Amino acid sequence: MDRFVVHPSGPLEGTVAVAGAKNSALKLMAASLLAEGTHVLHNVPRIADVDLMADLLRSMGLAVERHLTGALSIDRPDEVGTEAPWELVEKMRASIVVLGPLLARHGEARVALPGGDDFGHRPIDMHLASLEALGASFTTAHGFVEGRTDGLVGARILLEFPSVGATENVLMAAVLAKGETVIENAAREPEIADLAAYLNRMGAKVFGAGSSTIVVEGVEELVPVEHTVVPDRIEAATFLAALGVCGGEIVVQGARGDHMHMLVQKLGDMGLRTSPHPDGLWAMARGRLRATDIATLPYPGIATDYKPLLLTMLSVAEGVGIVTENVFSGRFRYVQELNRMGAQIRVEDHHAIVRGVARLSGAPVRAPDIRAGAALVVAGLVADGETVVLDAHHVDRGYERFDDKLRGLGADVTR
Ligand code: UD1
Repeated sequence: MDRFVVHPSGPLEGTVAVAGAKNSALKLMAASLLAEGTHVLHNVPRIADVDLMADLLRSMGLAVERHLTGALSIDRPDEVGTEAPWELVEKMRASIVVLGPLLARHGEARVALPGGDDFGHRPIDMHLASLEALGASFTTAHGFVEGRTDGLVGARILLEFPSVGATENVLMAAVLAKGETVIENAAREPEIADLAAYLNRMGAKVFGAGSSTIVVEGVEELVPVEHTVVPDRIEAATFLAALGVCGGEIVVQGARGDHMHMLVQKLGDMGLRTSPHPDGLWAMARGRLRATDIATLPYPGIATDYKPLLLTMLSVAEGVGIVTENVFSGRFRYVQELNRMGAQIRVEDHHAIVRGVARLSGAPVRAPDIRAGAALVVAGLVADGETVVLDAHHVDRGYERFDDKLRGLGADVTR
């Protein structure tokens, strides 16, 4: 059944393991286009978006296989197709990151233009402008963007905004460009650093990833390697949010506190205690959370992907909190669903004003996207009666065995 059924739960107890980061795994898979041979990725989450990226690579002629050990192997032949079809790009915008590797290796790429989604308008102008700076040229027709180049040449690129996707696309193009590329105002997310680490292992020369200035010295060719994906900080945050509303004491196995610094600090303000643990992150919550103000920002700021979870926590916290969205426009669609569960959230432009209530009230709600869907499940844990979260397939795009993992902590969630 494509729904989660949730009942009031808590306190939560036990250990839950986070999977590899979706937002890293997808880009590492795309990066395999850069070198012929067999690439092996460990800790790749078993989620629908990874299956979609595998389908996209297969449609280009690569062989993608999940082994019994859990490892994902990607076999990249000499010749591959250079087109990303609409059916796949429409389902997953992250498909756009094949553009950089294809241009770098084959001098051509044809990728369907991603449409809008629940996050509002998401253009790709920065991706195209920075690849143009390296010597690619683009035309758009019939819903596709078509890129060509006679050979990429390193350049200095100043990004207007530290876009994650644009940084990744230009990074994957620059590793095989002639000469030096400098990316300024680059995105600093841990997933960018993970991609750079993978590329360097493949033989690339990338310096400074994880900071605002990335320097790339182009190399002639790359080789396939093995790599382990960084843990998913958004998944880790999801279990912390569940703990926040239910109370209890848990260990989030594999969570990297150093990748979630600002979040952990905010959660501390709200009354959730965390500390490093040999297996990951230990966390404890007792009594009602306290409200706080939060602004989303590019890393190391509070990620926009945490926002639905934070809104759920603020919905049942003591006091009033204001959440300001600075990364995407229109990413408040699920607020009406939380309000149908008794939350008191008012949205004014890119701010949400949340007046905490003691408990929510179970209701049928619809998951609009991955993280908001997970946040509605978390809301159900502190809602009287039964909450049914419809369209669970959105959650499957980013979470592996979500209900199993929550049940392991003692939460009453079934599929
Ligand atoms: C990635 C993440 C997503 C996360 C987001 C911000 C993946 C698969 N997705 O998305 O979960 O919420 O980072 O942390 O990794 N923009 C432009 N022009 C462009 C590119 C982006 O205007 O060419 C704008 C976007 O509309 C948005 C902002 O820049 O307002 C940030 O977007 P970006 O960092 O590129 O997000 P994604 O890479 O799409």
